[in-house]
Amino acid sequence: MAGKRKARIGVIGLGIGKHHLRNYAAYERSEVVAVCDINETLLKKVAKEYNVPYAYTSIDEMLDAPLELDGVSVALPNYLHAPVTIKALNKGIHVLCEKPMAMNAQEAEEMLKAAKKNDRKLMIDFSYRFIDHCIALKKIIDKGAIGKIYYCRTVWHRRRGGIPKFGSWFGVKSLSGGGPLINLGVHRLDLALWFMGYPRAVTVSASTYDYVGKKLAAEAGVKYDVEDLAVAFIRLDNGATLILETSWDGYSEKKEDMVTQILGTKGGIIQRNFNEGYNFEAKMFTEENGILKDSLILATKHKIGTAMAHFVDCILDDKTPVATGEHGLECMKIIDAIYLSAEQQKEIALEP
Ligand SMILES: NC(=O)c1ccc[n+]([C@@H]2O[C@H](COP(=O)([O-])OP(=O)(O)OC[C@H]3O[C@@H](n4cnc5c(N)ncnc54)[C@H](O)[C@@H]3O)[C@@H](O)[C@H]2O)c1
Repeated sequence: MAGKRKARIGVIGLGIGKHHLRNYAAYERSEVVAVCDINETLLKKVAKEYNVPYAYTSIDEMLDAPLELDGVSVALPNYLHAPVTIKALNKGIHVLCEKPMAMNAQEAEEMLKAAKKNDRKLMIDFSYRFIDHCIALKKIIDKGAIGKIYYCRTVWHRRRGGIPKFGSWFGVKSLSGGGPLINLGVHRLDLALWFMGYPRAVTVSASTYDYVGKKLAAEAGVKYDVEDLAVAFIRLDNGATLILETSWDGYSEKKEDMVTQILGTKGGIIQRNFNEGYNFEAKMFTEENGILKDSLILATKHKIGTAMAHFVDCILDDKTPVATGEHGLECMKIIDAIYLSAEQQKEIALEP
């Protein structure tokens, strides 16, 4: 570990951002020197609770202040990810941006350009990559245990009532960029592509629906103009196929239902969450001496916080984050194509 200096961190947005703050505060290599939220009551409460010296209701004021920040977490509604990330990068500050990286691929490209121009790190909080169970699966796959992957189906369904903060920005297209696809599906998409070695998508065919969310929103008198189910068939440049399904308000069985099934030339894996929560277990199906063999890959506890520690390590040790802006951009290109395919009811080819 190079040096004993602590990274000086700011956290912008104190919803999920509070988890970022808690994890930076708990990590021995970082200190949170500033927080920002337009909700002044929340801001004061959180700053006091975590003993943060500087608290701002204005993002510009915080980023313009001489705080010598090394890094910031951008944990704001999706429409603010690109402008705030770009401003921070232009100020010479490394950024850990919440997922989805942006509202669309064009914004994501601009964020990446700003990171490169300023030689700053841009990490995306694809938090599932930092779960021990997912890391273990990735290692098993990379060692070749299931051979070459030719198929993956990844799912995140929530039963009726699963829209986050119903009536908030999450259901408004101009603020969120979309519904479960951009907010939940993006995690599954990134995780599946990561397991598969991040092949590039070449074509996308998709449908989206909004029957249930729209009906509930009309009854409650709140704005809702995003999908509540998206399903996509994605062809990848290595010949493999990826199927993505995601919904947050369907008449389905489980509160949270996450499945990733992978088929390879030498074996298969199916990973599921259990107890409708955020811990995972998996089974692996292989062949030994001509006999089929099933192995259980046991669950590990879902540890939140390693993404923040990793970001800090990348800053202090000058390493490239594992969840990069490039991966964030690839996901945004696929998400754009899914929405376009659903709108035009035809297959979309992605630019190389
Ligand atoms: N990685 C994950 O697993 C995960 C989990 C939840 C949310 N997220 C992502 O995190 C982001 C935030 O989601 P959330 O659930 O915390 O939303 P939220 O609405 O609960 O919190 C956002 C916070 O930002 C503040 N805010 C809004 N506009 C602001 C502005 N102009 N200046 C300063 N503060 C402002 C709000 O007051 C609020 O406290 C979203 O992009 C979401 O997709 C990621």
